[in-house]
Amino acid sequence: MKMLNLKPLFVASAVLLASGFALQAQAEDESQLIKRGEYLSRLGDCMACHSLPGKPDFAGGLAIESNLGTIYATNITPDKTHGIGNYSEQQFSDAVRKGILPDGSRLYPAMPYPAYAKISDEDLHALYVYFMKGVQPSAEQVPETKLSFPFSQRWGMRFWNWAFTAEKPFQPIGGASAEVNRGAYIVESLGHCGSCHTPRGFAMNEEALDSSNAAFLAGGSLNNWEVPSLRGLPRWSEQEIVDYLQTGRNDKAATGGEMKAVVEHSSSHMTDADLKAIAAYLKFLGGNPPLQAYDMQAAQVTEAKLTAAKNLTEGERLYLDNCGACHFVSGKGAPGIFPELDQATIVNAKDPAGLIHTILQGAQQPSTAKAPSTLAMPGFGQRLNDEEVAQLATFVRQGWSNNAPAVTPAQVAEVRKSLKHGE
Ligand code: HEC
Ligand code: HEC
Ligand code: HEC
Repeated sequence: MKMLNLKPLFVASAVLLASGFALQAQAEDESQLIKRGEYLSRLGDCMACHSLPGKPDFAGGLAIESNLGTIYATNITPDKTHGIGNYSEQQFSDAVRKGILPDGSRLYPAMPYPAYAKISDEDLHALYVYFMKGVQPSAEQVPETKLSFPFSQRWGMRFWNWAFTAEKPFQPIGGASAEVNRGAYIVESLGHCGSCHTPRGFAMNEEALDSSNAAFLAGGSLNNWEVPSLRGLPRWSEQEIVDYLQTGRNDKAATGGEMKAVVEHSSSHMTDADLKAIAAYLKFLGGNPPLQAYDMQAAQVTEAKLTAAKNLTEGERLYLDNCGACHFVSGKGAPGIFPELDQATIVNAKDPAGLIHTILQGAQQPSTAKAPSTLAMPGFGQRLNDEEVAQLATFVRQGWSNNAPAVTPAQVAEVRKSLKHGE
């Protein structure tokens, strides 16, 4: 039998023991980082584009229609063949913050890297650790993006980048509170709120990427649905902004269009402190006056006419028959349940497409942790023809305090055509 020299074994086990502690400490650090990275992925709403319902998280596949063709969001799980498992942290950083792929080619700005350029190094590191170690690898394969020429040439995007993206790190606002600056950081970087709420220029570039420019968050348009300005939100208190982002509803309004998904996948997962910071920042921006100021006299005239129900116009009659039960003759609805139509942003929008869309298809509140119930408004597309919807929408846009231009049957027909089932 061979003699055992136990001394090295003791030394080895002592080393193992020590490194075991170190490993454990490291693992704890790492699990904290992974948690933080997961939260940051919620702030960035990576899931909205990189996950499909019924498929593994982040396995890609969402088809983003652009006027250049269809762009597919890729698999960003740590799978080494189909995902980003071979990315170094530098390559991940270049893709997320600059839109540059490891082979030097450029991503299309359907991936919001112009905003993500402002993600801090510390947050980027946590995101990287999360995507490498906290996400399940998936071998899901995504269709290849093929745009029409010349946009099929990814190198062309380099010129787009030079021309438009600032690739500037986040600049804190001098003199503003820490809370406002936290809100600015979330909104301008991970939150990429500007990708929908900032007007787009001639090459689909966002006209501004931070609060130094008055065009930032001044309102945009998406799939013909007007995206409202977020500058100051003069009709809402900070708490109402927090409620809207946390639950998809507040005492005055409810989410619709693409904003519903933003609340579902991103803002409803944010901490109270981060939501308050966003609200403080949007208030800080100030700027736009309300679309429609409250006009008590006009509001009372409409309410009295609907209550008396005599000599009604066609629009008023259609409102009483189809809408009044929930939104009431006052147009005020019920706080947190039925949104206000008097003074509502969606009702007074220059482009009535969002309002028409809601009347035709109805709407449903998102289900969130703080407000799981989902009240729905039925669609009226089957029941009302284009002429009737136009009369009704015109009444809603001009009743109570509202004073927006009339809606034509042609505008209704156009929205109806864009809906999948024409309902
Ligand atoms: C609004 C949609 C959208 C959001 C939100 C989004 N992405 Fe993307 N992302 C895309 C699209 C589209 C592509 C592919 C673009 C292309 O093919 O040029 C992409 C590509 C990528 C790539 C390159 C992957 C590859 O194929 O090598 C990475 C990495 C990435 N995204 C990470 C993220 C992370 C991390 C987040 C969240 C912080 C995020 N994305 C949020 C749309 C999005
Ligand atoms: C994918 C596009 C998209 C993104 C990203 C987005 N929004 Fe929106 N947002 C919309 C649309 C569309 C509406 C209009 C909803 C409606 O008409 O009911 C809206 C409405 C809102 C409103 C209600 C304003 C009003 O006057 O009614 C607030 C507040 C808001 N968004 C905040 C944010 C914040 C904060 C972010 C970033 C964290 C953000 N949004 C990101 C599309 C988007
Ligand atoms: C059964 C009750 C009910 C009826 C009837 C109803 N609604 Fe609604 N409406 C709702 C609810 C609930 C919401 C909020 C849905 C959501 O979260 O998107 C809503 C949302 C809206 C919105 C969007 C408000 C916002 O803040 O974004 C508009 C505009 C609207 N309704 C107009 C109408 C009109 C016009 C009619 C008549 C054709 C009508 N509604 C009939 C319950 C109703």
